[in-house]
Amino acid sequence: MVIAGPSSVHLARNISSDLNVNIIEPDLKIFSDGESKLRFPSVNNKHCIIVQSLYPPPDRHIIQLLMIIHKCKKDNASKLTVIIPYMAYARQDKAFLEGEIISIEVLAELLENFGVNEVITVDIHNKVSLSYFSVNVKHVTAIPILAEYIKNNIILDKFFIISPDTGGIARATKFAQLLNLPLLCLKKKRDRDTGCVSIDENIGMKVEGMNAILVDDMISTGESIVKACEVLKKQKIGKIIVVCTHAILLGTAFEKIINSGVKEIISTNSVPSICSKVDLSIILSNILLDANLSDIKD
Ligand code: R5P
Repeated sequence: MVIAGPSSVHLARNISSDLNVNIIEPDLKIFSDGESKLRFPSVNNKHCIIVQSLYPPPDRHIIQLLMIIHKCKKDNASKLTVIIPYMAYARQDKAFLEGEIISIEVLAELLENFGVNEVITVDIHNKVSLSYFSVNVKHVTAIPILAEYIKNNIILDKFFIISPDTGGIARATKFAQLLNLPLLCLKKKRDRDTGCVSIDENIGMKVEGMNAILVDDMISTGESIVKACEVLKKQKIGKIIVVCTHAILLGTAFEKIINSGVKEIISTNSVPSICSKVDLSIILSNILLDANLSDIKD
C-alpha cells in the first residue's frame, strides 16, 4: 500500500492510482510549538510505499517521515520503500570547509537505522550522495519527462539549452540531446562562507537574438537563475525559460526570477507549486513496477 506523507499527498494519490493499490493518508496535527502528530490505521504486514518529499521545512518533513516509518515497522510491515522525490541535505555531500558535517550521510544513516529497505529519489543534486546509502537506492531522472513537456508545449525556434554551472552539465547535456538543441554551460561560483553567487560574464558564445532554456536540478533562493539572466540579458538574449526538477522557490524567488526576465518556470511536482507542470508519478510508478526504462534510471 501507498502511504501519503503530508508533504506529498497529491503525488502519492497519483502513484496509488497508477499502481492500483490502496492508499493511507495519515491525519496530521501541527501543535502550536511546531511539533507534528500523525495518526493512521495499522498497515499490518504489508509492503509499504511511503511518499514524502523533503522540501522546506526539511527537518519537519524528515521527522514526519521517520514517524511514519517507525509506525510501519511497529505494524510489522513486510517491506519499506521510501520515495523521497526531493532529497534534502544533498547539497552538503562533503566537508567543503574543515569541520563541516556531511549532512546527507547523517540522513542516509537515519533511514537505514530506522529499517528502510529501499529508497527512491529523483535528480539528486550530485550522485556522490548516493554512495552514503547502504540500503538499496534507485535514482531516477525527470529530464526525459521535462523534455517531453517542452516538446509538446513550446515552439523551439532559435533555442538553445544553458546549464548555469558545470555541476549541472550532465543533466543539461541529456536535455539538449533529447530536444536536439545546442548546449552552453555558464561558469558559476558560490562563496562557501556567504553563499553569494557570481557568474562569469565571458560566456564564450554569441547569443544575441537567440532564446534559451536554463536547466537546473533545483531553484532555491533563485539567485543562480537571476545571476544567469543578468549575464544573458547583457548579451541581448531573447526569451528565457527555466526548467528544473525541484522548484523550492523560497520567499520571493518566483517574483525575482520573473522580474529578471524569465518568461516561464517549469518544474515537476516534487515540490508542489504553481510551476509544477510535470507529474513525477509516471516515472515513480514505473520504477516501482521495475519496468525496464533505461532512460529514467539514472
Ligand atoms: C547548485 O549547484 C544547484 O544546482 C542549484 O543551482 C542551486 O542550488 C540553486 O540555488 P539558488 O536558487 O539558491 O541559487
